[in-house]
Amino acid sequence: MSTAQFDPARYKAEQRQSWNAASQHERDRMPEIRLTVNGRQERLTVKNSTLLVNALRDQLGLTGAREACGVGICGACTVIVNRRTVSSCLSLAVLADGAEVLTVEGLSDGDRLHPLQQAFLEAGAFQCGYCTPGFLMSGVALLATAEDPSEEEVRHFLVGNLCRCTSYQEILSAVMKMKEQASPDWLQPRGGLSARPPA
Ligand code: FES
Ligand code: FES
Repeated sequence: MSTAQFDPARYKAEQRQSWNAASQHERDRMPEIRLTVNGRQERLTVKNSTLLVNALRDQLGLTGAREACGVGICGACTVIVNRRTVSSCLSLAVLADGAEVLTVEGLSDGDRLHPLQQAFLEAGAFQCGYCTPGFLMSGVALLATAEDPSEEEVRHFLVGNLCRCTSYQEILSAVMKMKEQASPDWLQPRGGLSARPPA
C-alpha cells in the first residue's frame, strides 16, 4: 500500500496561502457599527482596518480631529471615547462600536463656544490652530475628571499633545484658568456646531 509522501515545504506554502487569503478577507470585511457621536446616533459601514480618525473625518465630516503623526505621538487626533481620551489615529473604528464619542465639534453649542474654547481664545492659546482640537479634548477630559489638578498635573496630562507653534504657556494658562468652572458635564456634548451637515 502506498501513501502520498508528506512534503513539508508544500504544506507550509499551502498554510501560508490560506492564512494570507483569510487575513485579506478579514481586512476587507465591511462590518456595520453603531456609535453615538456628539450625541447623535450614527451607523457606519467601515472596513476592519478603518481608523477612527478616518471614519470621523471621511464619513461624518468631523474634521476637527487631525491625523498628523499617525503614530500616537502628537495628540492632534485626540477624541474622547467613553469618557477617556484616545488617539483616534491608533484606534480602529470597529472597536468604537457601541461607544459614545465626543469630538471637538461637540464642545460648542451652536455658535456659543465651550468655556475652555473661550479661555483658549482669550489667552491666545494657538497660532496656526492645528493642534488646538487635540489640546481642547485633552483639557476637557482632564478638567472634567480631575479634582483641582495642580499645574504640574496639567503639564503631565498634556504631555501627549504637541504644539509646533509653541503656544504651551498660553495653553497651560487657559486650562488652569478654567479648572474652577469645570464639571463632569463637560464630557457631554453641548449641541455641536451649527455648521455640522445633517445626517
Ligand atoms: S495623529 Fe494621532 S497622535 Fe499624532
Ligand atoms: S498652534 Fe500651531 S501647532 Fe499648535
